[in-house]
Parts: sequence; structure tokens; C-alpha cells
Amino acid sequence: MKKIARAHTNIALIKYWGKADAKLRLPLMSSLSMTLDKFYSDTYLEKTDGPNTFILNGELQSNSTKDRVFKYLELLKNKYGITDNLIVNSINHVPTAAGLASSSSAFAALAAAFCNYYELDLSKKELSRLARLGSGSASRSIYGGFAVWNKGTSDESSYAYALEEHPQMDLHLIAVELNAQPKKLSSTKGMQLAQTSPFFKPWIDRNDLELKDMESAIHADDFTKLGSLAELNASEMHAVNSTAVPGFTYFEPDTIKAIKLVQNLREQGIECYYTIDAGPNVKVLCQLRNIKNIVKAFETSFNNVNIVVASFGSGISYLDR
Ligand code: DP6
Repeated sequence: MKKIARAHTNIALIKYWGKADAKLRLPLMSSLSMTLDKFYSDTYLEKTDGPNTFILNGELQSNSTKDRVFKYLELLKNKYGITDNLIVNSINHVPTAAGLASSSSAFAALAAAFCNYYELDLSKKELSRLARLGSGSASRSIYGGFAVWNKGTSDESSYAYALEEHPQMDLHLIAVELNAQPKKLSSTKGMQLAQTSPFFKPWIDRNDLELKDMESAIHADDFTKLGSLAELNASEMHAVNSTAVPGFTYFEPDTIKAIKLVQNLREQGIECYYTIDAGPNVKVLCQLRNIKNIVKAFETSFNNVNIVVASFGSGISYLDR
């Protein structure tokens, strides 16, 4: 019986934001992420006599999402000499393209579903490499807990590994969905533009150091250090965006308001840090004891925010259909 592949979304604490090779999706920097329990994609495949088909959340897709999925499917089929046409059936338990990194879980689940369907016996490292070709961040969603994507220099050497699959750290992530609209500038395009910033290279030069510091914060179970480093790294990414030529930003006025709220909470002794990806939404890193107060502060300051409290999720799994 062919299975459903489930992959959880991950949020980078040290961001991937630039490619050395666009076709192979080789990054210019190594990255480190936390896999989340609350957001995931479930995907399974079926053969069809008709054309390739992509069904997302029960709806037949006819937009650019479909083109990207089909392009990736062709790559997988060519790699393994498969000529079947396929129906890709996915359920995304993630607000699609709203900056909650849905492509990480989507392409990790698709790579895993493909390998399961054709009984390809890949190691996790090989699966990570395969997922990377769909979307860079997907390489990290193969693992639970904390994962590191080693940038590498070739298709073979660029893959993610588990830093700690089942961390005991008291770390929670409050996803604050300020705006559920799909983003106007994709990550793929944003990270290309970012490289025109005069601050891009100095930022990349710091990658080894930032990664090492983050790893030692994790090993030392040091939430303060982890949060400060994650906030710094995210701020660097967005500073590079605003200083690109031409400059751009994913921030909306509410994003700034959320950043200030996090800073105010910290001043009041409620320790929390933000990280922000390619969209206006804010993720707040905190410890268990402060969740309630932080959620309350966001609900009081914003109308109609959607708040989800997440913690560590698991790596790829397979479910019966
Ligand atoms: C800001 O993995 O979506 O979330 O490889 O072009 O598909 P492509 O990019 P993608 O970029 C993710 C960017 C990020 C940071 C991160 O997840 O590391």
C-alpha cells in the first residue's frame, strides 16, 4: 500500500537567503532551523492515464504553484527514469505562502512521497538532497528538532542533517499571522535581489561564526543566546533586503508594530525574540512560562490576528491512506 508522506515546516534561526547555484539550489550560506509540530504537509501520489495533475487542499491547481510542482516532478522522473504521469495530492496544514515557509514542508513531503511510491530506498541524507532541489528550505524538513543544512559545494555535498532530533530545550514559537495574503515577492526572487546589497557579502562572511554560536547556544541550552542570535540573523536578512538595489521589504506596518511589541515585552521582563521570513508575519521565540502573557499582548495589540503556538515537530513520517 502506498503511503502518505508527512513533512513538517521548519523555521530558520540562521537563514538561507542566497544561492550559489540556482539550478542545483546550492546556497551561499549554511542554515539552521527548528522543525515545527503545528504546520505540515501531507502528500501522496497516484498514477494517471491523463496529464500530470496537482490537487492542493482538495482543489485542482491551475496556477504557478502547479508549474513549480510539475517542474520538480519532471526532475524527479528524469532522475529515476520514470515515465508515468502522476496525480499529486497534497493537504497543506500551513497558511500557504504567507511567510510560514510552506515550501519547506511541501517539497519535503513531495520528495518523500515520490520515493515511497517508487520504492526508492534513499537514506535521509539523500532524501534531503532530493528535497533541496525542490526548495532549499525543504532539505531541513526531513528531520525533526534542530537541523543544519551544510551549504556544501556540489549536489552531493549540500544536504541537511539532524543536530538534535528530539531536543529537550524549553523553546516555543508563537506564529503571529498578521496578514494571510500570499506574498508578492517569492523567496526565490527576494534572495536573488538581496545579493545586490553592499551588506550582503559582509553578512555572508559572518555565516560560519553565527552558525557556530547558534550551535553552541543549543548545546548549552541557552535560550537567551539562541533568541538573540536568531533575532540578529533575521534582522540582518531584512537589512540586506532594504539595502538591495532596488531596496525592498517584506514588512508591513503591523510587522514593525509587532517588533516593537516584542522589544517592549522584553523590557518588561517577558523574555522573547522575533524572527521573520519572506513575508510580513512574525514568529516569536519564547519559553513555556511566558507563552500566555505574550499571546495576550498580541491579542490586545492587534485585531484579528491568527496566533498558533508551536514547538518541536518531527521529521518525515509515512501514514496509511
Ligand atoms: C527566508 O526555501 O523558499 O525562509 O530554495 O528558492 O525555494 P527556494 O527558497 P526557500 O527560501 C527560504 C527562505 C527563508 C529562510 C530559510 O528558510 O532558511
